[in-house]
Amino acid sequence: MIEARHLSKRYGTKTAVNDVTFSLTPGQVTGFLGPNGAGKSTTMRMLMGLDRPTSGSITVLGKPYAEHRNPLNVVGALLDAKGVHPGRSARSHLRALAATHAISDARVNEVLHLTGLASVANKRVGGFSLGMGQRLGIAAALLGDPQVLVLDEPVNGLDPDGVLWVRNFVRDYAAQGRTVRLSSHLMSEMAQTADHVIVLGRGSVIADAPITELIASGGTQAQRLVRVSSPESIRLGELLRAEGARSTQHSDTDELQIEAMPAERVGEIAAAHGIVLHSLVTEAASLEQAYLELTRGELEYAAA
Ligand SMILES: Nc1ncnc2c1ncn2[C@@H]1O[C@H](COP(=O)(O)OP(=O)(O)OP(=O)(O)O)[C@@H](O)[C@H]1O
Ligand SMILES: [Mg+2]
Repeated sequence: MIEARHLSKRYGTKTAVNDVTFSLTPGQVTGFLGPNGAGKSTTMRMLMGLDRPTSGSITVLGKPYAEHRNPLNVVGALLDAKGVHPGRSARSHLRALAATHAISDARVNEVLHLTGLASVANKRVGGFSLGMGQRLGIAAALLGDPQVLVLDEPVNGLDPDGVLWVRNFVRDYAAQGRTVRLSSHLMSEMAQTADHVIVLGRGSVIADAPITELIASGGTQAQRLVRVSSPESIRLGELLRAEGARSTQHSDTDELQIEAMPAERVGEIAAAHGIVLHSLVTEAASLEQAYLELTRGELEYAAA
């Protein structure tokens, strides 16, 4: 469906994308993750023919985007929602796009309804909020009812209702056997939306795996943080440290955070000393944790 082979892009001396190979499977939502500047948008721009690869190739349905006769019917893309003339109304912007592909006014109305823009269809885009602009970008991507949907940070600026809508919409789109490629910095959102994840770091692929596999890679059960609360948390902390755990006491509460000891062992030690526990929890594995571990050495723009 979408295939990148040894794809590279250099801007002067800067390598934005470095020998990247991947393919996107129909029927799945594939998420692209990676720190700022990792090359996610550059990869998308090359897919859409907006940037020329320095070497390698990226194709949709077997050929470069520009070689498709009716590209809007093949790939719908949201790249930069601000790339719309501010003096135009939402409807006239969509109608202009539709005219290039003989797409009907009925379809224009349909996507306006779908994206919740029907009531502002005749308003100037220049007066749109961030989220409304984002919705218009999604409407444009859907216009040609394409087989492939490519969305760069689609939920940026959307209200919770809009975020939920995008999530359900792309899941449904993929369930129809179509291909969806999504990027986002919101890990919890990605975890609920994507089936498969590709992680880029400094222009290279550092992970390409089903999301469940990636989440599971974020530390083993034994390495996960354990939280325990007990009226005798200070004594418990001393006992656990004596057995090799690292623990942090939360001041003002009865809670201890424990590293390097599984919850079972914590419970056993507490029981052996007759210490009452009020709660004992192992933190669930998260995409965020797996992502942070994967990209630790790949940050180009790290805050101090
Ligand atoms: N037109 C350009 N000219 C020069 N350098 C560029 C250009 N476009 C992108 N770059 C550089 O290429 C690298 C990759 O940028 P890209 O926009 O693809 O990152 P990204 O993964 O989308 O990041 P973000 O999460 O911030 O959107 C960055 O270091 C960026 O500065
Ligand atoms: Mg980007």
